[in-house]
Amino acid sequence: MLYEHSGYHVNSPASFVVPCGRVPFGTGRNGPAEWIRTAYHDMANADVVAGTGGIDASIGFELDRDENPGKGFNETLFNLRDFMTARTSMSDLIAMGALFAAGGCSGGKVLLPFRGGRIDAAGAGPKGVPRPEETLESHEAAFARQGFNQEEMIGLVACGHTLGGVHGVDFPQIVAVVNDTTTDDNTQTFDPTNDGESAFDNEVASDFVSNIGNNPLAFGHNVTTNSDGRIFNSDGGKLIRAMAQSNDFFLSKCQTLLEKMINTVPKGVTLGEPIEIIPVKPSSLYATVGDSLGKMTVSGLVRLVSRENSWDADPGRQVKIHIRPRSGTPCSSTTPCTVVEATEFSWSRSLYHEGGFPYFKKYQFTQEIPTAQGIAAFDVEVLDTASNGSVSSTLHTNGGKGFPFDDTILTQPKMTCNGQKSSGIFNLTIAVRNDAGFREVKANFQLPQPLDALVPKISTESTDLKKIDQPNHTGYTLFHTQYRLPVGTYTLTYDLVASNATKTVRRLFNEVSEIKSCPGSD
Ligand code: HEM
Ligand SMILES: *[C@@H]1O[C@H](CO)[C@@H](O)[C@H](O)[C@H]1NC(C)=O
Ligand SMILES: *[C@@H]1O[C@H](CO)[C@@H](O)[C@H](O)[C@H]1NC(C)=O
Ligand SMILES: *[C@@H]1O[C@H](CO)[C@@H](O)[C@H](O)[C@H]1NC(C)=O
Ligand SMILES: *[C@@H]1O[C@H](CO)[C@@H](O)[C@H](O)[C@H]1NC(C)=O
Ligand SMILES: *[C@@H]1O[C@H](CO)[C@@H](O)[C@H](O)[C@H]1NC(C)=O
Ligand SMILES: *[C@@H]1O[C@H](CO)[C@@H](O)[C@H](O)[C@H]1NC(C)=O
Ligand SMILES: *[C@@H]1O[C@H](CO)[C@@H](O)[C@H](O)[C@H]1NC(C)=O
Repeated sequence: MLYEHSGYHVNSPASFVVPCGRVPFGTGRNGPAEWIRTAYHDMANADVVAGTGGIDASIGFELDRDENPGKGFNETLFNLRDFMTARTSMSDLIAMGALFAAGGCSGGKVLLPFRGGRIDAAGAGPKGVPRPEETLESHEAAFARQGFNQEEMIGLVACGHTLGGVHGVDFPQIVAVVNDTTTDDNTQTFDPTNDGESAFDNEVASDFVSNIGNNPLAFGHNVTTNSDGRIFNSDGGKLIRAMAQSNDFFLSKCQTLLEKMINTVPKGVTLGEPIEIIPVKPSSLYATVGDSLGKMTVSGLVRLVSRENSWDADPGRQVKIHIRPRSGTPCSSTTPCTVVEATEFSWSRSLYHEGGFPYFKKYQFTQEIPTAQGIAAFDVEVLDTASNGSVSSTLHTNGGKGFPFDDTILTQPKMTCNGQKSSGIFNLTIAVRNDAGFREVKANFQLPQPLDALVPKISTESTDLKKIDQPNHTGYTLFHTQYRLPVGTYTLTYDLVASNATKTVRRLFNEVSEIKSCPGSD
C-alpha cells in the first residue's frame, strides 16, 4: 500500500489522493485536505499525559458531534474502509492517508516515514477538537494536551491549512453561502494553490505575512473566528515569518510535525519500525498437487526494484529461483537445488513523481518438482548484464534462511473460486500433506463487522473443511468448504490451520482476491 500505488494487482488507497486533487470529490471539495483534516480531528482528543486518544479511528464514532462538521470525515473513512485487513487497522489507514496527501500534494517532498501497529478504538473518545471561536489560551491548552507546544501549534496549523479551505455549507458564519449548496460547497480556500504537486507549500504562511487576505480563519469579517491569525501571531509572528520566507523550511517543519501527529497514539500501542522497501518481496505462493504422477507444481511472484526505473522490460536481467527441498538441506554442489528461471510479469510504482521511489518489477515462476522432494523455502538469484557485457550475480537468501514456502497446507487455485462479487460463495479446496498426520483443518476468515460500520472491527469466523479426496500418488489429502463471504469490495483474507492432538500448522493471511472468480460471476 505504501510503495505500490499503481500497476498490476495493487491495492492502495493512495490513488484516491495522489496525484494531488485527482479524484473529483465535488465542487469546493478537496480529497487530500479532507484526509489530513480527518487525521487531525482523530488525533485532536488525545491526552498525552493520560495516554489516551490519538490516532485510533475513534473519529468514526464521533461524526455526530458539532466539532466535526462536514461530509469529509465520512467520505474519508468510507474510502479507506475497503483497505482494512487484519493487519491494517483503520487508524493505520488514517495515518497513511495523511502521509499520502502530504506526499502527493508536495510532489513527493514531504514524505512521512510510516510505522504500523495502531489499534482501532471500540467507540468514541472525549470531545476535544479546537474550534475557531475559542480563545488563544484555550487553543494552547488543547495543543498542550495533544503534546504540541506553542511553536509546534503554530507550525501544525500552518501545515494543515496549506490545503483546502472553509466550506460555507458547514461554516456559513465564516464563509457566506452565495452559490447553490446542492452543487457547490461554497468553499473559500486558505491559499490559492490547492491541487497539483506544489499545493502543499508555504503560500498560506507567505500570504499571511504579506497581508494577502485569502485565509478565512485569518482575515474573516468576524474577528472572533480568526483563530489562525491569533495562533500565527502568538509568538510575535516569528515562526510564521520563517515559514513564509523559505518553502524548504516550511516543508521540513511540516514533515516533523505531521509525523509527530500521525504517531500520537494511546499508551499500550507500540508502533513498529518504519516500513522500508525491501529488495526482494515474494507473493502469491501456490503449489498444486495431482497435475501429474508424483509431482507438484510450485509457483509464485517475486518483486524486485527495477534497475531501469521504468515500466519497460529490464534488459539483461535474469532472475533464478533456487528451490530448497522440504528436508531443509541448503543448496550445495552435492545436494543441488532445483533452479527455475522467473520471467518478467508485471510492474508497479508509486504515484509520487519525485521522492526517489522506484518502479518495481514482478517476476513469475512455475516449476514442477517431485512431491517426495517438496519445498521448504527458496533463494532468489538476480543476474544483471552491464552494457560492457560483464555479468554480476546477487543471491538473496533472506538472511540465510531462504524465503519461506511451507508445503504442509496448500490452497489449490484450480479447485478454488471466488464468488465474492456474485453469489458470495468462496469455493475453497486445500491440500494437506499426508505425512504431517493432520486430521482437523480449518479456515479462519477475517471479516469486517458490522459490514456497514464506518470503522468495522475485523473479526475472525472459523469454518471446518471436510475431507473430500486423497488423490493417488500425491501424498496429499484434499479438504473443501463452501463459505459465504460478504458481497462487496472489502479486502478479505483467510488463515488456514491444520492440527492434530499435539501439533498445529498455520498458513496465514491468504488473500481472497488472488483467487479466480467463479464461472459466470463477472
Ligand atoms: C486551532 C486549531 C484549528 C482550528 C480552529 C481549525 C479550524 C478549521 C476549520 C473551521 C476548517 C474548515 C472546515 C470545513 O469547512 O470543512 C478547517 C479546515 C481544515 N483544517 Fe483546520 N483547524 C485547526 C487546526 C488544524 C490542524 C492542526 C490541521 C492539520 C494538521 C488542520 C487541517 C485542516 C485542513 C486540511 C482543512 C481543510 C479541509 C477541507 O478543505 O476539506 N486544521 N480547520
Ligand atoms: C457516508 O458516505 C457514504 C458514501 O458517500 C454514504 O452512502 C453514507 O450515507 C454517508 N453516511 C453518513 C452518515 O453521512
Ligand atoms: C461561487 O461560484 C463561483 C462561480 O463558479 C465561484 O467563482 C466562487 O468561488 C463560488 N463562491 C463560493 C463561496 O464558493
Ligand atoms: C462572530 O462570531 C461569534 C462566534 O461564532 C458570534 O457569536 C458572533 O455573533 C459573531 N459576530 C458577528 C458580528 O457576526
Ligand atoms: C563493466 O561495467 C561494470 C558496471 O558498470 C563495472 O563494474 C565493471 O568493472 C566493468 N567491467 C569491465 C571489464 O569494464
Ligand atoms: C501430529 O502432527 C505431528 C506433526 O506433523 C506428527 O509428528 C504427529 O505424529 C501427529 N500426531 C498424531 C497423533 O497423528
Ligand atoms: C487409485 O488407487 C486405487 C487403489 O490403489 C485404485 O483402485 C484406483 O483405480 C486408483 N485411481 C486412479 C485414478 O489411479
Ligand atoms: C464448488 O465446489 C463444489 C464441490 O467441490 C463443486 O461441485 C462446484 O462445482 C464448485 N462450484 C464452482 C462454481 O466452482
